[in-house]
Amino acid sequence: MKPKVFITRRIPENGIEILKGHFEVEVWEDEHEIPREVLLEKVRDVDALVTMLSERIDAEVFDAAPRLRVVANYAVGYDNVDIEEATKRGIYVTNTPDVLTNATADFAWALLLATARRLVEGDTFVRSGEWKRKGVAWHPLMYLGHDVYGKTVGIVGFGRIGQAIARRAKGFGMRILYNARSRKPDVEKELGAEFRPLEELLKESDFVVLAVPLTKETHHMINEERLKLMKPTAILVNIARGKVVDTGALIKALEEGWIAGAGLDVFEEEPYYNEELFALKNVVLAPHLGSATHGAREGMAELVARNLIAFKNGEIPPTLVNKKVLNARKPGFE
Ligand code: NAP
Ligand code: GLV
Ligand code: GLV
Repeated sequence: MKPKVFITRRIPENGIEILKGHFEVEVWEDEHEIPREVLLEKVRDVDALVTMLSERIDAEVFDAAPRLRVVANYAVGYDNVDIEEATKRGIYVTNTPDVLTNATADFAWALLLATARRLVEGDTFVRSGEWKRKGVAWHPLMYLGHDVYGKTVGIVGFGRIGQAIARRAKGFGMRILYNARSRKPDVEKELGAEFRPLEELLKESDFVVLAVPLTKETHHMINEERLKLMKPTAILVNIARGKVVDTGALIKALEEGWIAGAGLDVFEEEPYYNEELFALKNVVLAPHLGSATHGAREGMAELVARNLIAFKNGEIPPTLVNKKVLNARKPGFE
């Protein structure tokens, strides 16, 4: 009998097709997130799970799933999964790094440029008919934004995505500052990137881009005190996780002009609604679209499948997150 995998949302077909050759596959077809109580019911007889970043996968889920051996998270970030609890129970957890790096770095740049150059304000001005009504074709002082070329970008979190963002910054002639837990001498040499303690990076940068994972250490890493260190002309871009920024402090910073603007792809709660934030003109907002390209999402689907198949074959999954689990249990469903 084939092992059973439950996929909590429809993912691109390529991944489902590969999985069907090796697993009995069930997909949650509703566009909405699976209700918690239904998830707890569904996992009762599954051997493997494919999960989304919006689902909390924790002790309660593991308790409800006695046969569960492997969780393939359809995301590179895995803050939604209780890794310690999974490891304790010998459950393998995998993620989808690399295949979404370039798409997400591109999107960070889309947000950076759109915010700096007031693209969404301009779009609204045109499509609302306001431009035509106003009757001013071109004005030297209309919708002035911020220069990007040759400025300083500070990248917080200098892993796969942070470094990909830096590579693009080279083309914009930028000075590149970065912060991470560890120094990256090779990348410093390759890109001329300079390490800075977080406070220094915030003080010096014209653009601050967040690309850290959400952890205990990065939760509200960008708070009131740190926003106050930024330049009044600086722009903050967050493609990491919403909780890396204290939203209340950010709104205050934007309203009171401590910083010039923000481009946000991620929010403290998703989906997000906040009239105070939405009333601000100097923000560009996106509904968590970092990896949302056909190519990246198909790559993620394939990688999820490759992880589960490797596990089934008794091999170490290619992008295993909790390596310590290898001491607890061998890969495989036996
Ligand atoms: P990664 O390769 O693991 O890079 C993470 C970087 O963050 C590393 O450089 C790491 O430092 C640094 N870091 C971790 N904790 C830190 C701390 N306390 N202070 C400073 N730096 C810290 O991960 P990635 O593939 O680039 O992905 C990064 C995150 O982006 C994901 O976890 C996810 O949350 C988010 N993401 C969002 C989207 C989206 O749709 N918006 C898409 C993909 C990913 P070291 O190098 O020293 O370890
Ligand atoms: C998206 O946010 C991811 O972590 O893959
Ligand atoms: C603008 O369109 C210019 O020609 O300077």
